[in-house]
Amino acid sequence: MTGRNPIFGPNRLKLGVFGTNGKGGAQTLVPEAYRPTWQASVQTSQMADRAGFEAIVAYARWKGYIPGRPDHASGIVLDPFTWAAGIAQATSYSAVFATSHAPTIHPITCAKQCATIDIISGGRFGLNVVGGWNKHELEMFGAPLKEHDARYDHLEEWLTVLERMWSEHEEFDFKGAFYEVRRGASMPKPVQRPRPPIMNAGGSDRGMRFACEHADMCFVILRSEDPEVCRKQIDEYKRTARAFGRDVQVWTYCPVVQRDTREEAEAYLRHYAVEREDSESLDAWTAGLGAQTKIVAPDQLKEFRMRFAAGAGGNILVGTATAIADQLQALSEAGLDGVLCTWVDFVDGLQRFTRDVLPELERRGLRQPFAPESAALRRPGDR
Ligand SMILES: Cc1cc2nc3c(=O)[nH]c(=O)nc-3n(C[C@H](O)[C@H](O)[C@H](O)COP(=O)(O)O)c2cc1C
Repeated sequence: MTGRNPIFGPNRLKLGVFGTNGKGGAQTLVPEAYRPTWQASVQTSQMADRAGFEAIVAYARWKGYIPGRPDHASGIVLDPFTWAAGIAQATSYSAVFATSHAPTIHPITCAKQCATIDIISGGRFGLNVVGGWNKHELEMFGAPLKEHDARYDHLEEWLTVLERMWSEHEEFDFKGAFYEVRRGASMPKPVQRPRPPIMNAGGSDRGMRFACEHADMCFVILRSEDPEVCRKQIDEYKRTARAFGRDVQVWTYCPVVQRDTREEAEAYLRHYAVEREDSESLDAWTAGLGAQTKIVAPDQLKEFRMRFAAGAGGNILVGTATAIADQLQALSEAGLDGVLCTWVDFVDGLQRFTRDVLPELERRGLRQPFAPESAALRRPGDR
C-alpha cells in the first residue's frame, strides 16, 4: 500500500471512533447520549485526529430499525459519504471511513465518491463494506434483503466492479449476475495505490471468508471476555486470510466507560445500559440481528443484551484508566490489531481516554506518542 493512511502505521494497537455520524453504539435513554449534529461530528473527529487515533468510521443506515418509528435515534444518521468528505477536510491525520451496502449505491457511483474523498483527504480514505441486516431500510429501496449468503455474493460482485473502476486505465466491459458495465472508466483515481483500505465485519462463515479474501481490516464482535477464546477467534481470521495468500488486520469495537474508580465506572454502566436502556430499540435490534445475521450465536443474544445497550455488542471496557489499558493490552496480546471505541458521551469519553489511557498505552509500548508536527500530515488546504 502506498500513501499515508495511518491504518498501515506502526502502532501495535490501533484505535478509532465509531458511529459519530449517527447515535454511536449505545442504546440508552440517558440525556447525555450522543446526537449526530455536524458540530458534534467535527468536534469529536478533531479530538480523535489530534490524539492520533488511526480511524474515524461512519456507519450506513438509511432508516431506523424500529418499524413505524422513523424519528427514533437509530434512524437519525448522516450520509456516510458526504459526512466523510466533510470530516476529511476538518481533520489531517486519521483515516476516514464511509460504509456502504451493495444494493443502496451503484458501484460506479460509489467508486467516484470514494476516489473524491481519497483526494480530499490526501489518501486517508477507507471503505467499510457490509452485507446489511436492517431489512426495513433495504425494503425501502425496493430491494428486499437477500438470503444471508447471497448478500455476500452481491457484495463480492459490487466490490469487483468498484475496484476495477479504481484501477483500470483502459475502458472495460463487465457482465455478472448483478451488474453490467459497458466501456467502464472512472477518473480521477484514488490517491492510495493499489486502493484505499477495505473493511468488512462478516461474522458468519461466509462473512469471514468474504472479509479474509477481500478486506484489509476484518471486524469481529468478540464472543467472550476470555483472552484465550478471543485469540482463537482472531487467529481463525488471520489463518483464513493466509489461505487466500493475504494478511489482514483484525479489529473489534468496544464501548468504553472510564471513571476514577471501578465502582463509579460500573455504576455508570449499570445506569445507562440497564436502568436507562432503550428497551424498544434493544428489542428491535436483537430481533433484527437474530433473524438476519450470524454475528452472534442465537443462544447468546439474550446474554448480549447489556453489551448491545452499552455499545452495539462489543466487549465493554470498564473501570479506571489502568484497568482499561489492562483490557486493551490483553486484547492486543490475543492478536487484535485495532479497536473502534464508542462512548455514551463521546466528548467526555475522548477527553478522559486521551488524558489518562493513551499515556498508559504508550508506556506499555502498545502505541507511540503522537506528534502531529512530525507525522506525515496533510493539512486542510494542501492539495
Ligand atoms: C464494526 C461493524 C460495523 C458495521 N456497520 C454496519 C453498517 O454501517 N450498516 C449495516 O447495515 N450493517 C453494519 N454492520 C453489520 C453488517 O451489515 C453485518 O450484518 C454483520 O457484520 C453480520 O454479518 P454476518 O451475518 O456475516 O455475521 C456492521 C457490523 C460491525 C461489526
